[in-house]
Amino acid sequence: MNIRFPNNDFTSFEAPMRAEIDLDGLEVVQGAVPQHLDGGFFRLIGDRKWPSFVENDVFMLNEDGMASCFYFKDGRVNFRMRYVRTPRFVAEEKAGRALFGQYRNPFSDDSSVAGLSRGTANVTMLVHGGKLLAMKEDSPAIEMNPFTLETIGEYDWDGKVTATAITAHPKIDSRTGELVFFGYCAAGPATTDIAYYEADSNGRIIHEAWFHAPYTCMVHDIMVTQNYVVFPITPLRHELEWIQRHEPAFKWDYTKEVYLGVLPRKGRGDQIRWFKGPNQCHGHTIGAYDDGRYIYADNTFSKRSFFRFFPNIDGSQIEPAHTMPYAKRVVIDMEGQGDGFTEQPLFEYPGELPRIDTRFETVPYSFATMNLLDVPGQERVGGGFQWIATLDVSGKGPSKILYAGHNCSIGEPQFVPAHDEAAEGEGYIMAVVGRHEQMRSELLILDASDINAPPVATVALPFRLRSTGHGYWYGGRQLRGETNLLGAW
Ligand SMILES: [Fe+2]
Repeated sequence: MNIRFPNNDFTSFEAPMRAEIDLDGLEVVQGAVPQHLDGGFFRLIGDRKWPSFVENDVFMLNEDGMASCFYFKDGRVNFRMRYVRTPRFVAEEKAGRALFGQYRNPFSDDSSVAGLSRGTANVTMLVHGGKLLAMKEDSPAIEMNPFTLETIGEYDWDGKVTATAITAHPKIDSRTGELVFFGYCAAGPATTDIAYYEADSNGRIIHEAWFHAPYTCMVHDIMVTQNYVVFPITPLRHELEWIQRHEPAFKWDYTKEVYLGVLPRKGRGDQIRWFKGPNQCHGHTIGAYDDGRYIYADNTFSKRSFFRFFPNIDGSQIEPAHTMPYAKRVVIDMEGQGDGFTEQPLFEYPGELPRIDTRFETVPYSFATMNLLDVPGQERVGGGFQWIATLDVSGKGPSKILYAGHNCSIGEPQFVPAHDEAAEGEGYIMAVVGRHEQMRSELLILDASDINAPPVATVALPFRLRSTGHGYWYGGRQLRGETNLLGAW
């Protein structure tokens, strides 16, 4: 049987790699890697092993997870890349072909895999309680060895997590080390059930609550403060009858209101309060905190889903400008009598993949970084994310923007503190840049206070790394299970 991938957007630089790699001692072509950095920059790349048998599937979201890590120690950088051996990957490897069909549609699978987890583990890599988990929001987490990237297997927190799907965007409370996470469609495909969990700093489940969303939709991320959890219900809807008819699993519904569901931390499901607002699509949470009365939650929102491959519910044409995400602050008054919320813009340029100094997760913060899709007036060659920005969400400090270069794509920026006592935003930003004309990638280590200065170091790879969603730094103490909090080592 010929192996041939479809001739779609994923060619040339973005063609599947399908290669597991070990390369010690990466070349540092400029500057020097800080000697004291001790940890790993983990990135989960989608990389399909076997071509799909579904025509025009959502290729980008339905790829096998490929875990990669830049390991730092004594000024040297080693690189490792391994497939996440999900139940799905193992079954398809044995068959030597794809067995799972359309994105998020179990009715399209080969009958031999009925009931097997469809998860691809291709979104984020989390370290908490000394465990490395590869995560995708439609399936259980997959545990991996943090040092070898060997797959250990599905992880359900010692049987305490019964939700059939777990978010890829848990939050770690920077004051307690607790893990706050949830699952949507938690009782099976296209169900309205949402399960909310907290684990203590050792990874033991200490709280569980279930409730129903007003309608079934993609719930990619949450906002977490010291006292509240906010669940964004925005109408990238998902209905069982659509997947039964083999239609796209998600459709954008511009007639529905947005609901922000607020629970007290460790609250019961029947305590949820719904705050309503105008139609728009949630992307990612930047940061969030509360002052006892008001919740301040910063997020990316677009007029419709960023994913243009999901159609409008009535089949109408998609306006590209409506897919552009912008950073906004949402304010919710928990002592008010109303059921609305207010919004204010945070940044003028469209962008995504926002991150903060995670030592300030759940508490007041100001430093953020994100990738930009467009900077009006600036020349660009190529598509996708080509700029990286740092900004002060308090509005007190300047924002800075760095262009990655013509025909270069830039991956999610990750902040790493300079040292244990570093001030907020004092440290480095790591980002992988794809140099499309040279068909290779490099890791930039930038001074977070001045991303326009020459990089602290440029680490070269002799091959390309496909564009990916998310990348996370974990210091050596996190990898060894000694802490859950971000550090340089
Ligand atoms: Fe994400």
